[in-house]
Amino acid sequence: LIGPGLLKRTGAILKAAGLQGKVMVVSQPKIAHLYFKNTERSLRRAGYTVKLHLIPNGETAKSQTELFRLHAALLEHGFERRDSILALGGGVTGDLAGFAAATYLRGIAFVNAGTTLLAQVDSSIGGKTGINLPEGKNLVGSFYPPRAVISDIDTLKTLPDREFRASLAEVVKYGVIRDAVLFRLLELNAKKILGRHPGILETIVSTSSGIKAGVVSRDEFETKGERMILNFGHTFGHGFEQASGYLKLLHGEAVSLGMVCATHLAVKLGIFSAAGQQRLLCVFRRLGLPLSFSKGKVDIQEVCRAMMHDKKKKAGVLRFVLPEKIGKVVIRQNLEQRLVRQAIASACAKGHVK
Ligand SMILES: NC(=O)c1ccc[n+]([C@@H]2O[C@H](COP(=O)([O-])OP(=O)(O)OC[C@H]3O[C@@H](n4cnc5c(N)ncnc54)[C@H](O)[C@@H]3O)[C@@H](O)[C@H]2O)c1
Ligand SMILES: [Zn+2]
Repeated sequence: LIGPGLLKRTGAILKAAGLQGKVMVVSQPKIAHLYFKNTERSLRRAGYTVKLHLIPNGETAKSQTELFRLHAALLEHGFERRDSILALGGGVTGDLAGFAAATYLRGIAFVNAGTTLLAQVDSSIGGKTGINLPEGKNLVGSFYPPRAVISDIDTLKTLPDREFRASLAEVVKYGVIRDAVLFRLLELNAKKILGRHPGILETIVSTSSGIKAGVVSRDEFETKGERMILNFGHTFGHGFEQASGYLKLLHGEAVSLGMVCATHLAVKLGIFSAAGQQRLLCVFRRLGLPLSFSKGKVDIQEVCRAMMHDKKKKAGVLRFVLPEKIGKVVIRQNLEQRLVRQAIASACAKGHVK
């Protein structure tokens, strides 16, 4: 469900999804302060018993410690098979709460109410849940589809500006991989989007979730290859994230740089037109997304190494999702190292390369 004012209808939505009993709302202090009251009132009115479980802010919440702490809270409050967990927060909250729901008593119902743009267009769709290990991100988890996804557009109003803008990179990604009309909408309405006009946000969230849901439903467990197109900009992006240390770049910013690299590569290979590349760079600029890395020095060799370690590479082969035209991508592998390095350099500001 996508639209304004939805959290006030949480109770009715859970009823319609056939859920009953108790609901453990999992959230972070800042988000609970903003949105728990309305959510709780709606749930109580519909007859649910509501508990609140707070997790820390930030990626570190996706840990074994927090997972077991949540299991313990569910046990302490007597949660049974018929009860539910509702995630109220961004991707971190959804991933942890979803995995707790998947594993507690071998699975209780899960509802995902994403409150970040990233959660609404990406992480709350597709059923992936999980936590990190000290050795790396998302190493333990499961595919566990939620019983309902609630994307209340109103919650996007309180997102920090940088957070909001970075997540628009994922929206640009959907346009490039699948939807020239969405891409055109981004080209023409950057101002309205950055001003967070509710109507346009609703269009963006519903179109993006629709594209992701379509891809995922044809390749639910990432076995057929189709889901791979969602990685457009991510192979290079993960390289930048790791080489720069996660603190310097937000995920969406790294993906934006990754799309710049992939586009450069596609032009060099003669797959994509220079005019198409200009359109893409222009959209990034209008939406305030970075076109080049300028937060300290980046070591191109380090970005390459990080890309090789990317868990999504299959049997040692790096695959690249490259634009063919706006709305269509192709997959290429076994590309020359030299071309890959040039592509990385294309997204590094002069004087910022080691
Ligand atoms: N499951 C998937 O398919 C999938 C897909 C993409 C990303 N992810 C995961 O998602 C996570 C990133 O998600 P994220 O970008 O939403 O980060 P996040 O959950 O850390 O949220 C970002 C920040 O915004 C705050 N916040 C959330 N909603 C707010 C609101 N409405 N107003 C003000 N502040 C708000 C949060 O407290 C946090 O500080 C990563 O762990 C990533 O691995 C999962
Ligand atoms: Zn992403």
